[in-house]
Amino acid sequence: MKPIVLSGIRPTGQLHLGNYLGALQKFVKMQQEGKYESYFFIADLHALTTNPDPKVLHENVKNVLAEYIAAGLDPEKSTLFIQSDVREVAELYLLLNMHVGIGELMRTAAFKDKARKQLGITVDNPDDDIEDVARQLIGNNSNKRVNAGLLTYPTLMAVDILIQKADFVPVGKDQEQHLELTRRFARRFNSFYNVDFFKEPQNFNFGGEPVKVPGLDGSGKMGKSEGNCLYLTDEDKVLRKKVMRAVTDAGPTVPNQPMAEPVANLFTILKLVATPDKVQFFTDAYNRCEIRYGDLKKELAEDILAITAPIRERFKEIHSDEEYLRRVVKRGAEQAREHARQTVEEVRRIMGIHPF
Ligand code: TYM
Repeated sequence: MKPIVLSGIRPTGQLHLGNYLGALQKFVKMQQEGKYESYFFIADLHALTTNPDPKVLHENVKNVLAEYIAAGLDPEKSTLFIQSDVREVAELYLLLNMHVGIGELMRTAAFKDKARKQLGITVDNPDDDIEDVARQLIGNNSNKRVNAGLLTYPTLMAVDILIQKADFVPVGKDQEQHLELTRRFARRFNSFYNVDFFKEPQNFNFGGEPVKVPGLDGSGKMGKSEGNCLYLTDEDKVLRKKVMRAVTDAGPTVPNQPMAEPVANLFTILKLVATPDKVQFFTDAYNRCEIRYGDLKKELAEDILAITAPIRERFKEIHSDEEYLRRVVKRGAEQAREHARQTVEEVRRIMGIHPF
């Protein structure tokens, strides 16, 4: 039996370079290695936590599916499916929630961040505890609302993983906390029912550290809600323009000067897309105070385009073939449901739900 790999991406728009370098590129490499049984899906139920327009959601599911295939995922080698097609996920979500604490969900970084955004609360330190959020949510004169789906986002993510008994879950750095919770829920379930049932999944990064792709606007990560994305489907001109506009500084004035965050961010992306020689060349130039950021940005844009332009070209063709896409997810759903059905049957039995 091969180890099981599973991961997903929310259909909240076109995929960006962070999604690619943090996740999708690893999916493709793992598939190519042929050592795993792989499941890759489109997390449309997770996208519902932010109440998208139904038409837009549907379009985005199709976009991500076509981008998966354009980036190299092959439905003959990996099971590609849409999360909501696996109805068993909804059932296990209900069952697993009985063993998940409201407090631990409220303390996750992603929840605090999103809840604060929805409530319009700004804080200096995002790690601060959540009295501010809790007060607004519980106080009965608050007319603001954060939906329960957002709070239980980690339960749903744990269910995606545990229902397929995944060993490896390739995700970017921002998802590590959710993975840690998944392991905790698995251990808790096993110990409560005294079974050795759920596996504890691990992130996978080919031996390296999990990736966090920064934005080019100075600080923080690349993300849709940050509005700083380089999209896989950006035309050459658009992408070059975005990279050339990246924030830098006035340049180093003393040799080996530590890099300011915006400059370090450019190098972080360069390391992920360029040859080691090129990275060394620009690092040396920086350390000697001879760097020309314009040259660095030009090279960076070309190296990014070398990755994204072929994906963009294939995307157009795949996206227009609806019949093919329909067949892919129909077969994917059948394969994913087979596994999921068995897991849910077992969980029902373990929890004491069985026929007379
Ligand atoms: P989402 O859509 O937010 O992110 C999808 C993947 O892209 C990675 N990512 C990044 N990696 C590095 N740098 C960035 N700037 C960056 N931005 C995004 C994320 O780490 C992630 O791997 N909750 C998941 C979706 C999901 C899932 C699952 C994943 C639902 N169920 C089960 C694995 C297993 C998410 O973050 O989606």
